[in-house]
Amino acid sequence: MNIVLLGAPGAGKGTVAQELVADFGFAHISTGDLLRAAVKSGSELGVKAKSYMDAGELVPDQLVIDLVKERLQADDAQKGFILDGFPRNTVQAVTLDSELGAMGNPLDAALLIDVEPKVIIERLSNRRTCRACGFTGNASHEVCPNCGGEMYQRDDDKPETIRHRLDVYESQTAPLVEYYKGHSILKEVNGDRPVDEVYADVKALLAL
Ligand code: AP5
Repeated sequence: MNIVLLGAPGAGKGTVAQELVADFGFAHISTGDLLRAAVKSGSELGVKAKSYMDAGELVPDQLVIDLVKERLQADDAQKGFILDGFPRNTVQAVTLDSELGAMGNPLDAALLIDVEPKVIIERLSNRRTCRACGFTGNASHEVCPNCGGEMYQRDDDKPETIRHRLDVYESQTAPLVEYYKGHSILKEVNGDRPVDEVYADVKALLAL
């Protein structure tokens, strides 16, 4: 099954993706994670992406599209994938459709995780991520519950950057809801409930 996760920053896309990957073995393609890894490695792509990410802006389309195209060719992505954080605008969505069409591996669902902005600011200010395995947790996790690694706060999880990321989401990414409605593959879940309840609804919506 091939799934796009849609939703504002902090809606819980990474959290739902982690559960789906653990239970069903889908390939997890997170453009945020791929870009953060590029920044950490100091690659040319990472150097170009860093200033956009720190400012809460979208990284230029072509850089992200090239990254995703390459990742979609990997063996694990042929058995089903979850795209988390991509597409982020109409150019990326149209390019994705055409790439997947050429591969004969189209999308099955676009899942919108819907959460109010005020909940999001609280969640992101509280988020902590594991440096070693990427586990997403919160400020109550002093070390990673998965691997014991160090938990850190992302540079773009400062209140003023969070607010800007929400504006960018509204202007550039939210229109994709109508795009996927038009393709008859949109599913919606209320993400403002405990993780277990959200995840149970996600599985029901995706018939998993
Ligand atoms: P990216 O890493 O994709 O960030 P994002 O979309 O802003 O999403 P987040 O990772 O912040 O949130 P999430 O929805 O995954 O929530 P999470 O599960 O962590 O992108 C970062 C940057 O990279 C962008 O700003 C841009 O610069 C660049 N970029 C990435 N993709 C790009 C693209 N395609 N094009 C151009 N640029 C791109 O949850 C958040 C917190 O809430 C956690 O602490 C979690 O534990 C908690 N939580 C989750 N669910 C629940 C729940 N149900 N109840 C209570 N708490 C919950």
